[in-house]
Amino acid sequence: MGGPNKNGPMGCPCCAGPRPWDAALRGRGGLRDRLFARLMRGGAAKYNQLLGERKRALFSEIGWGADGLRITGVDPNPAMAPYARESLAAAGLASGNVALLQGVAESLPVADESQDAVICTLVLCSVVSQERALSEARRVLRRGGKLLFMEHVAAPYGSLTRRLQDLWNPAQLWLAECNCNRQTWEALETAGFASLRVERVQATSNPLCALIAPHIAGVAVK
Ligand SMILES: C[S@@+](CC[C@H](N)C(=O)[O-])C[C@H]1O[C@@H](n2cnc3c(N)ncnc32)[C@H](O)[C@@H]1O
Repeated sequence: MGGPNKNGPMGCPCCAGPRPWDAALRGRGGLRDRLFARLMRGGAAKYNQLLGERKRALFSEIGWGADGLRITGVDPNPAMAPYARESLAAAGLASGNVALLQGVAESLPVADESQDAVICTLVLCSVVSQERALSEARRVLRRGGKLLFMEHVAAPYGSLTRRLQDLWNPAQLWLAECNCNRQTWEALETAGFASLRVERVQATSNPLCALIAPHIAGVAVK
């Protein structure tokens, strides 16, 4: 994976045909999306009780002055936007500095080398192509820019949790468009960042959440 994407954010690097991730944008905004967004809102509150501290530590990796801060949020599900606005307002971030766009991580509607940081939490489990999403993150970052990530991932190969993850994954994919058994650290290792720091984090000891308990968190620098 080389430098800036010469095809621009909306072009396919390899062909003129449909791209697999385009499907993630079709027929969005219906009941399923609205329901999922509402469930995620409740789930995120609980999740942040467990891992909020770790998330905050991650964000402290980037120094942001409140003044010049510009945020672009990208999600295929438009029903997420009102919740994102709520969270931004609660964090005291002026809405004039925020653009929430419908799109996918595999084709970011953002210019080459225009961002100081890309934040990706619980998204690489859902994208169609991790390779493409990480290549896009690298494309939009300035040199020295940081990708901050926190993702639930596959348990160690051969463990009971991993066997259960592999069995359950088709249901998870159908229910939540999310994979519980991705070896996301491997995609990060081969994504061409200048440096990468990955830490393993166990989210919870609750057996009901065991399949999404193994996490990685860290920073990749372009
Ligand atoms: C589990 S939620 C995480 C939301 C939020 N990032 C957080 O940490 O609370 C997964 C999010 O990824 C979004 N998503 C799914 N496929 C995506 C894609 N290809 N590109 C970008 N976002 C995607 C979903 O719509 C959903 O909002």
